[in-house]
Amino acid sequence: MLTINWSEKSGWETPEIKPFQNLSLHPASSALHYSIELFEGMKAFRGVDNHVRLFRPMLNMERMHRSAERSCLPLFDKGELLSCINKLVEVDQEWVPYSQDASLYIRPTFIGTEPSLGVSRPGQAMLFVIVGPVGPYFTTGFFNPVSLLADPAFVRACKGGVGAYKMGGNYGPTIMVQTEAVKRGCQQVLWLYGEEEEITEVGTMNLFIYWTNEKGERELLTPPLDGIILPGVTRQSLLDLGRSWGDFKVTERTMSMKELLGALDAGRVLEVFGAGTACVVCPVGSILYKGKTYPIPTMQNGPDLTKRFHKELTDIQYGRKPSEWAPLVV
Ligand SMILES: Cc1ncc(COP(=O)(O)O)c(C=O)c1O
Repeated sequence: MLTINWSEKSGWETPEIKPFQNLSLHPASSALHYSIELFEGMKAFRGVDNHVRLFRPMLNMERMHRSAERSCLPLFDKGELLSCINKLVEVDQEWVPYSQDASLYIRPTFIGTEPSLGVSRPGQAMLFVIVGPVGPYFTTGFFNPVSLLADPAFVRACKGGVGAYKMGGNYGPTIMVQTEAVKRGCQQVLWLYGEEEEITEVGTMNLFIYWTNEKGERELLTPPLDGIILPGVTRQSLLDLGRSWGDFKVTERTMSMKELLGALDAGRVLEVFGAGTACVVCPVGSILYKGKTYPIPTMQNGPDLTKRFHKELTDIQYGRKPSEWAPLVV
């Protein structure tokens, strides 16, 4: 694991790569009491050529930097941190699976270790990175569609809040809602927001809708980064790819539950899918909303676009297609 300590008095200490071990923390550490904690999620892939690659890692560094700023944790040099992570992955390279549907998950974490109970900017902090191999996301076969619970009683993030940052405090409280979704026979949560019941995210994935819009145009739509959406690396990559292909319109705008149900009813929705580091893309098969299940025809439509995105991104990640998005580690 990689650990880097910081204190107000001495600044950043020398980064250390050492055997995986428990941390020793003062019981008053601010991360434990006030959730002064943030994290990142990224992966290393072993390519067809046996080289190990990351995927757009600087986007994770930038997001982590923004989360640190919002958390009152000390700022760091993004390039330096990425060099440290590269070194860790190099040391642990034998843990990067020899498989083109598995990878090494990388979890950078940043905690306030200020040993006092005052609700204030921490004067001590620790940045650490742990890694672990992960298998394929779709264990029961390729591209199983997920069923979603959309209940406006639950909110993941709100305007002016911190939903756009990857802070631990955004995630713990969602587990009860996820449990509720499973109780009601669904697999994940479709997070709604506000009076209009805007559709925002799916579980811990960004949400995409591929449809024929009111003007009769093929369009890929995802909610905008208006403060309640986590700016996903996968999200950005799908927008970039979609725009570079030029085969359909690409739009960032809000869509209400009412508009989605209207389009579904009119047969204009082609595919709905989530996007994130864990799965790349994950098709949505149905939505349970106010006691009624609405089937989504994602799978009946191929799902052509979902598959195209999956192939394009995994080709880049596993070195089947050269790209500056996938820098070599070793
Ligand atoms: C709430 C939320 N939305 C979306 C994502 C997808 O982001 P990324 O593509 O960077 O994994 C994540 C995962 O990091 C998340 O936690």
